[in-house]
Amino acid sequence: MAHLFNRNVVLGVSGGIAAYKSAELIRQLKELGADVRVIMTRGAQEFITPLTLQALSGHPVHTDLLDAEAELGMGHIELARWADLLLIAPATADLIARLAGGRADDLLTTVTLATAAHKLIAPAMNQQMWRDPATAANIATLQDRGMSLVGPASGEQACGDVGPGRMEQPVNIALAAAGLFASGALAGRRVMITAGPTREALDPVRYLSNHSSGKMGYALARAAVDAGAQVTLVSGPVQLPTPDHVTRVDVVSAADMLEACMARVDDCDLFIACAAVADYRPVRVAAQKIKKDAAGITLELERNADILATVSAHAQAPFTVGFAAETQEVERYARDKLERKHLDMIVANDVSDTAIGFNSDHNAVTVLWQSGSQALAQASKASIARELISLIAQRMEAADG
Ligand code: C5P
Repeated sequence: MAHLFNRNVVLGVSGGIAAYKSAELIRQLKELGADVRVIMTRGAQEFITPLTLQALSGHPVHTDLLDAEAELGMGHIELARWADLLLIAPATADLIARLAGGRADDLLTTVTLATAAHKLIAPAMNQQMWRDPATAANIATLQDRGMSLVGPASGEQACGDVGPGRMEQPVNIALAAAGLFASGALAGRRVMITAGPTREALDPVRYLSNHSSGKMGYALARAAVDAGAQVTLVSGPVQLPTPDHVTRVDVVSAADMLEACMARVDDCDLFIACAAVADYRPVRVAAQKIKKDAAGITLELERNADILATVSAHAQAPFTVGFAAETQEVERYARDKLERKHLDMIVANDVSDTAIGFNSDHNAVTVLWQSGSQALAQASKASIARELISLIAQRMEAADG
């Protein structure tokens, strides 16, 4: 189902009679899950009041480029960065011409230039203005630059003419907006993902850890957001930026990670354990830096709890997915782990192959579940993550019945 969960939409409204339909469009966008902020041109305010669109969007409407007070709230550059989609509906012939000319003479044109977001425009004008070669050339220019177009529809116009130029129906514009984004396979699902290594302290300056980069877990978090999920990433220490729209909880040790996961497990529908959790921790953590007086020292280690097995044994366990890094008989050991840890799915990868796994940007995996398996050929971690998320979503749906 098309949706706009987790999507920030800046709706630009320019001055045409169709501006009154923007009220309904905001409702449709919000119904699909979007957070909507509105920019109105001066002309638009002649047709509908900012107060109406403020009430519907739930945010103050942005109208001026040079408004010191508005800039103190969410300034134009912040607004441009906030947007996942810039939707302009209605887009008048004049606005389209100004966009084609690359102008930045009001807030809406400035934000259009300043944003890296997807751009979708819904033209609305008299049929003769739409047919004019100047408009046609401007539209072609905008499409060449990567802007998408929805409508216009044909039919009777406010001015009495009949022909193409009516703004597309709000419901169709909202669906076109949703269609610009990836699948909604996890729409409305709450997902918790562990990622990265853990560090087990020996003394105030030393620790035991591993080479996990966190890349796979972070790629999964991104793919889950794209599939419409609400994502919490419980992350060990890694050098990666937090993906957009992800709630990140930073942890250091396996014990911290367990605590962070169990504090949130009742609020999640899907748990993916991607972290390379240290199996053992030092029995004693020295209060002071260990001195190198002795010729050798012996570390006494004790087992860490298995976070994944603890989550899957929880009373109302979410759908649980684990990873199995193996160097031999990958599928046999992975299936054994699936049974032993009572998992819904396990993702097995062969870490004896140095081209894939841990620090690499690529991976190749076999996914196993009770009644089947599927191999995913070598690809970027981003692409493997998308395939995994879609496979997990399918299995979750099958489990839901
Ligand atoms: O048993 P093994 O460590 O091979 O299992 C790997 C899977 O279990 C991974 O999904 C990993 O994130 C998870 N795991 C865990 N807590 C541990 C050890 C592993 O969640 N202490």
